[in-house]
Amino acid sequence: MASPPSSVSPSTLITRLRSAGCVFAEEEAHLITSTARTPNELASMADRRCAGRPLEHVLGWAAFCGLRVQVDEGVFVPRPRTEFLAREAASLLTPGAVAVDLCCGSGALGAVLAHTRDDITLHAADIDAASVTCARRNLPGHPVHHGDLYRALPQRLRGRVQVLVANVPYVPTDRIALMPAEARVHENHRSLDGGADGLDLVRRVTAQARRWLAPGGHLLVEVQEQQIHTARQAFARGGLSCAVASCPEREATVLTGTR
Ligand SMILES: C[S@@+](CC[C@H](N)C(=O)[O-])C[C@H]1O[C@@H](n2cnc3c(N)ncnc32)[C@H](O)[C@@H]1O
Repeated sequence: MASPPSSVSPSTLITRLRSAGCVFAEEEAHLITSTARTPNELASMADRRCAGRPLEHVLGWAAFCGLRVQVDEGVFVPRPRTEFLAREAASLLTPGAVAVDLCCGSGALGAVLAHTRDDITLHAADIDAASVTCARRNLPGHPVHHGDLYRALPQRLRGRVQVLVANVPYVPTDRIALMPAEARVHENHRSLDGGADGLDLVRRVTAQARRWLAPGGHLLVEVQEQQIHTARQAFARGGLSCAVASCPEREATVLTGTR
């Protein structure tokens, strides 16, 4: 996209962003300038970023696995770490697979799955209405359901899902206060809060996964390293074998359960 005629010079924007605490001020200035369509939009984006809004909410999109995923205000910003989960899930897709992106947020994971294979049947779901609206734009042609975990899904998917990816909230409640303001203030708490040990949603998802997975189907979730042991117990209680994969560069840990 061409840069808008600007009343804010690049160097002024960089200086403003740097004073507001943006570590990657040059890069952000470039992204803001190339995304804004008019000088007014550029000024408004600069103001919002300098006021502490997440860059992706200001831009309206996030880069994820090489895709540009739209991210509305209040919707969870897909994290670079989660690209590992996306790639692990995509590697398990077979021709014509049924896949589900549960707790889809913007639909970033589902978008990667749909982009990996165009012959899959993909469903996504989230409890947050704003996320559902956003995911519908990122997943054209794929149903995005609104509701609590599996209750949102059509019953006809029971026993048919080959790849069930669920990036559920997994931050322990008392750790949310320690998160950067960008997440703590500007993202819905429901997208972060995993309960006392962070694994409430993991327990709920693993407990019912067997009913939805096809024989040999997989459930993939992301957790923190210190949660692996307890999360594995939840997979075992749910009747799933469990493998752990880690990506140290991304500080990402993915558990894959298989029915
Ligand atoms: C950590 S975010 C992940 C979003 C997206 N999958 C991603 O990786 O960018 C967790 C998401 O779970 C949703 N969520 C929380 N509780 C839920 C529930 N009980 N049922 C469905 N979705 C839920 C939140 O609204 C949020 O969008």
